[in-house]
Amino acid sequence: MGRCCFYAVGTLSLLLLVTSVTLLVARVFQKAVDQAIEKNIVLRNGSEAFDSWKQPPVPVYIQFYFFNVTNPEEILRGEIPRLEEVGPYTYREIRNKADIQFGENGTTISAVSNKAYVFVQNLSVGDAKSDLIRTLNIPAVTAMEWAQEGIIQRIIHALIKAYQQTFFVTHTVHDLLWGYKDELMSLIHPFKPEVPPYFGLYYGKNGTNDGDYVFLTGEDNYLNFSKIVEWNGKTSLGWWTTDKCNMINGTDGDTFHPLITKDEILYVFPSDFCRSVHITFSDYKSVQGLPAFRFTVPYEALANTSDNAGFCIPAGNCLGSGVLNVSICKNENAGAPIILSFPHFYQADQSFVSAIDGMHPNKDHHETFVDINPLTGFILRAAKRFQINVYVKKIDGFSVHTNALDKYLFFPVNFVTQSVVIDKENAGRLKSVINTTSIVSNIPYIVMALGVFFGLIFTWLACRGQGFMDEGTADERAPLIRT
Ligand SMILES: *[C@@H]1O[C@H](CO)[C@@H](O)[C@H](O)[C@H]1NC(C)=O
Ligand SMILES: *[C@@H]1O[C@H](CO)[C@@H](O)[C@H](O)[C@H]1NC(C)=O
Ligand SMILES: *[C@@H]1O[C@H](CO)[C@@H](O)[C@H](O)[C@H]1NC(C)=O
Ligand SMILES: *[C@@H]1O[C@H](CO)[C@@H](O)[C@H](O)[C@H]1NC(C)=O
Ligand SMILES: *[C@@H]1O[C@H](CO)[C@@H](O)[C@H](O)[C@H]1NC(C)=O
Ligand SMILES: *[C@@H]1O[C@H](CO)[C@@H](O)[C@H](O)[C@H]1NC(C)=O
Ligand SMILES: *[C@@H]1O[C@H](CO)[C@@H](O)[C@H](O)[C@H]1NC(C)=O
Ligand SMILES: *[C@@H]1O[C@H](CO)[C@@H](O)[C@H](O)[C@H]1NC(C)=O
Ligand SMILES: *[C@@H]1O[C@H](CO)[C@@H](O)[C@H](O)[C@H]1NC(C)=O
Repeated sequence: MGRCCFYAVGTLSLLLLVTSVTLLVARVFQKAVDQAIEKNIVLRNGSEAFDSWKQPPVPVYIQFYFFNVTNPEEILRGEIPRLEEVGPYTYREIRNKADIQFGENGTTISAVSNKAYVFVQNLSVGDAKSDLIRTLNIPAVTAMEWAQEGIIQRIIHALIKAYQQTFFVTHTVHDLLWGYKDELMSLIHPFKPEVPPYFGLYYGKNGTNDGDYVFLTGEDNYLNFSKIVEWNGKTSLGWWTTDKCNMINGTDGDTFHPLITKDEILYVFPSDFCRSVHITFSDYKSVQGLPAFRFTVPYEALANTSDNAGFCIPAGNCLGSGVLNVSICKNENAGAPIILSFPHFYQADQSFVSAIDGMHPNKDHHETFVDINPLTGFILRAAKRFQINVYVKKIDGFSVHTNALDKYLFFPVNFVTQSVVIDKENAGRLKSVINTTSIVSNIPYIVMALGVFFGLIFTWLACRGQGFMDEGTADERAPLIRT
């Protein structure tokens, strides 16, 4: 009986150890977990992933920081512009996917992404409707750009003179963003009907969408989850000069596929950035106790390299690292000569930073990042940031002679931070999913621990058994010696 138990424990221990090693090597439970995740994170009517894709469960905020011009006369006399950052002016971005339609076999889904903006006073430095910002007269600068086209050159010059348009204007934050009736544009409107009489950096963007999308649902392959295949009926963009640069890559940046690895290059297509961008792993993070991979936009994304040569328009006209000429795609701004960069020219050539007094690029405040939970692909925290600059060159129409503006300047107007952080409730829900999966994937280790436990019992029995057996033999011999 004792001996039988002894061998049973030994065999059990060995079996458990072999089983656990086999399970670990074959990754049986890990695969089961991955498969369950892949099956569940799909855009399917009724799935949790679908619901949070349709309407984000946590609030999204968009914060605007403006650059107030402090030395307008001096700039016109040729001095370096001195700008003062004011902000944030915060809006809640209310997102809502609409016109949702599934493709034939559930592998595609089409939708529009409606967005509306509501001012949040207690997260802002002041009142957007009353705070005044002095900045470039963007419509006038834009008109000066057209003036080179010749035909309407004289009309525009005459108008600028006659209406005493100034190079700098002062408007409220609200008007600069959502639109004000501009005198010059109202005058030009009859000649160029595509130019609206209103100007605003986000003019016409409240309560509207940025076009029709077709996404993959992830039903065929989890890596395709929420990947964009079509935007406004096209599978690629038309305004850049190479096919690679015109590609619409990845998701819209609001969702990512599950089972993210840190060697991956993720792609996003934010339509307001007018191009696809890649993001790469930079760090391990923890958000509300949940593990996250931080992905950031690397320097190479906007660098002046041969890969990016297709973004130089007209072809060959590269402006340098860290800037992107998007005038061709900003219809809502009447084709204003807008140059995007990261805030404060972060990751851009030093010459852009030095040309303006008040630029202080800083990784913590100006970097675009997204903290993704690697298992589920859920965004735990993110900040998308970019700056709107206006290309200004020789301004003879304003009858001033300047040194600074003799050549050209990328004049910062404002920058935007679009951010989201997971709340306690959703973090708790995600945590329970992660805990369950980690228990399941740790089953082999639990089996191994049991194996080790029984192994220890076996060893202990063996040691005790040794003593017992020695005594036994002594007992067996004893009568023999005695006799
Ligand atoms: C999802 O299912 C609900 C109820 O079955 C239905 O009313 C709704 O139209 C479906 N949505 C889509 C996008 O097919
Ligand atoms: C779904 O339909 C598309 C065309 O409509 C086809 O190319 C694709 O192979 C189909 N996928 C599956 C999984 O049936
Ligand atoms: C956007 O539109 C909504 C609804 O029409 C309105 O409540 C809100 O104030 C608007 N936001 C701005 C910034 O004008
Ligand atoms: C801001 O005000 C809203 C109500 O207007 C309130 O719900 C919210 O908690 C406030 N936020 C902060 C950070 O005070
Ligand atoms: C911006 O500058 C103008 C002119 O100096 C000033 O009137 C205004 O108050 C400033 N705006 C803010 C928000 O500080
Ligand atoms: C879906 O993913 C697979 C594997 O990554 C890929 O081969 C396929 O082309 C993807 N489908 C589309 C439409 O991109
Ligand atoms: C799009 O992705 C392809 C690889 O799939 C890459 O070669 C190309 O450079 C990307 N384009 C952009 C604009 O990111
Ligand atoms: C961009 O790179 C090209 C090729 O390396 C170089 O000739 C050009 O001067 C660069 N342009 C700027 C503005 O740095
Ligand atoms: C920006 O692109 C537009 C449209 O192609 C072009 O006309 C303009 O010259 C470019 N601006 C600069 C500063 O290169």
